[in-house]
Amino acid sequence: MSEPARTRKPDLTKGLDKVQKFGTILLPHEADEPILAAGPRLAIYEWLTELRSRAELESVGLKPRATALLYGPPGTGKTTLAHHLAARLGLALVTVQAERLMTPQFGGSSNNIGELFDGLAEAEHGCVLLLDEIDSIGSVRLSDDSSAGRERNMVLTTLLTRVEAFRGMAIAATNRKDQLDPALWRRFGMQISVDLPDGEERFAILNRYAAPFDFGEDGLDILTDLTQGASPALLRQLMEGLKRALVLHPRLGLNIDDVAVVFRAITSAVAPHPDLPQPPLWKAFGTHAGQIRKIPWPPARAPKGRP
Ligand SMILES: Nc1ncnc2c1ncn2[C@@H]1O[C@H](COP(=O)(O)OP(=O)(O)OP(=O)(O)O)[C@@H](O)[C@H]1O
Ligand SMILES: [Mg+2]
Repeated sequence: MSEPARTRKPDLTKGLDKVQKFGTILLPHEADEPILAAGPRLAIYEWLTELRSRAELESVGLKPRATALLYGPPGTGKTTLAHHLAARLGLALVTVQAERLMTPQFGGSSNNIGELFDGLAEAEHGCVLLLDEIDSIGSVRLSDDSSAGRERNMVLTTLLTRVEAFRGMAIAATNRKDQLDPALWRRFGMQISVDLPDGEERFAILNRYAAPFDFGEDGLDILTDLTQGASPALLRQLMEGLKRALVLHPRLGLNIDDVAVVFRAITSAVAPHPDLPQPPLWKAFGTHAGQIRKIPWPPARAPKGRP
């Protein structure tokens, strides 16, 4: 029997067929909330409040800002944050790798941008656009008069015009802030820095991805120290590697009694991004083995059914 229409959730992908060739549609129920520093957390909270207070803002001659640029190192949660924000607004997130809009044919990239924004305008329930790796389009304008330079500048102008005219919310993300054309940088209503996590955030991120294992405060403190400079993405990989080892190594006949050996196996299979600092845990094994052996081991596991 079909569900009564009144309780049926709206199909947030309705009308978005034409944008599927450029990107991926992420739905609210798949979103995670990123663990952020106070700065970006407050910026997002303010933005959400602003978007929900249209009438009050209009009464003083303002409109909610519709665009934001997220910048920061790889794996710090820019995509996760855009998805979370769209989910909080109950909207689908259309993520487009800016590179996918680029073609070598003259005029082709501008046509793609036009097609993308025309497609987005057909979203029946609205949507949020994430233009990821915007630096691949919006890098500093070429001043030379070559045809490549003219083409690139035309693409950028088309993008700026379409972002401005877009009736939904557009978020762009980059981890190469210094490559962006200043004109593009300025056109976004907000520029939000999403940086590498400090100690407090690393502790919370490690704890989140450790669940259902509990490393205790002492264990997490040690891991927080040893992961200085790590991105959230790397912290997630580390903790997921640990959980995999705790569950599977005994099955494979591998010993998990020595915590330092387990860590060594994981950190040799998961490497920090080449553009980011190398956290102490990834430096010569002898330098931190003593600290690792202080982690209460093996970690306790929450009973089944409890996170
Ligand atoms: N701040 C965070 N809190 C919790 N988890 C995070 C956070 N940031 C990233 N992650 C996790 O790390 C992974 C990568 O994150 P994400 O793709 O959002 O990073 P990004 O900044 O968009 O990276 P890139 O610059 O490479 O596009 C995701 O699986 C996400 O769950
Ligand atoms: Mg991303």
